[in-house]
Amino acid sequence: MSASLSLSSTIKLSSGHAIPVIGFGVYHGNGEAVAHALRAGYRLIDTADFYNNEGDCGKAVRDFMAETGTPRSAIFYTTKLWNNNHGYTLTAKAIDEAIARAGIDYIDLYLIHSPLTSSELRLGSWKAMQDAVDAGKIKSIGVSNYGVHHLEELFTWDGFRIPPAVNQVELHPWLARKDLVDYCRSKGILMEAYCPVTRGVRFGEPAVVELAAKHGVTPAQVLIRWSMQMGFVPLPKSNHEERIKVNLDVFGFDLDEDDMHKLDTGKYEPVAAWDPVTAPL
Ligand SMILES: NC(=O)c1ccc[n+]([C@@H]2O[C@H](COP(=O)([O-])OP(=O)(O)OC[C@H]3O[C@@H](n4cnc5c(N)ncnc54)[C@H](OP(=O)(O)O)[C@@H]3O)[C@@H](O)[C@H]2O)c1
Repeated sequence: MSASLSLSSTIKLSSGHAIPVIGFGVYHGNGEAVAHALRAGYRLIDTADFYNNEGDCGKAVRDFMAETGTPRSAIFYTTKLWNNNHGYTLTAKAIDEAIARAGIDYIDLYLIHSPLTSSELRLGSWKAMQDAVDAGKIKSIGVSNYGVHHLEELFTWDGFRIPPAVNQVELHPWLARKDLVDYCRSKGILMEAYCPVTRGVRFGEPAVVELAAKHGVTPAQVLIRWSMQMGFVPLPKSNHEERIKVNLDVFGFDLDEDDMHKLDTGKYEPVAAWDPVTAPL
């Protein structure tokens, strides 16, 4: 699989829509960074209501489309529902507001940002999201920070019609979540990897340093390549033009089996401040 990866590669989601194999994260990001990312070649933008920059991201997307003649269909725009808007009515309103803030016609992927409310509210949100797909407002729907138990709650609910296309969770060699990944794979759910470059805190790990030297790349490139070869869609974030470009320059080398093995730590060491995956129902 990895040998055939290229910048234009996509993965078909259970919704039938295609998602790029790498995306651009914008937590603490801004419109200028999104403009750099689009010019560099990223086509997937990952924002959220919580990030407070959907307006700037949407504007950067619209400006790029106007400047380059790129059609809307070539861009994959993801945003997320924050916890304060769980439940049917608030979610239906939040979807319309997210579209309006970005100034775009539809959202490619809409995620429940976390399961941190209640069963009733989560399922109400999913009902609103299913209806928004029917109405053409959203192409694909998914979840973020869901554990197996949160997904099982959805699958066994009597209002369940549209399966989640994606589960976006923290994923890197120090948090590879084999059980959750295997479960999602068995259900046709694509994993998106947040904190794919560990916010830089693991760049000095001996295996990373060794593989970066072996392949003549940076630690960030090693970690992004690992993520793609695991079958995840990594969402590296940077506000620096040079890093934005370097993080996308990951299609000229392959990690072999031995390299991948060196990054197989079996550890559970999140770098983000939260891990709702483990939260009880
Ligand atoms: N669903 C969720 O709950 C959730 C949670 C967290 C993140 N996310 C998503 O996932 C995206 C990525 O996660 P993240 O932003 O937390 O972590 P990340 O992408 O692993 O790391 C971003 C940090 O690493 C630095 N960095 C990036 N590339 C670098 C490079 N080549 N060399 C040196 N430093 C580099 C950036 O600094 P500079 O900007 O200064 O370059 C930034 O501080 C987010 O932006 C967001 O879209 C989702």
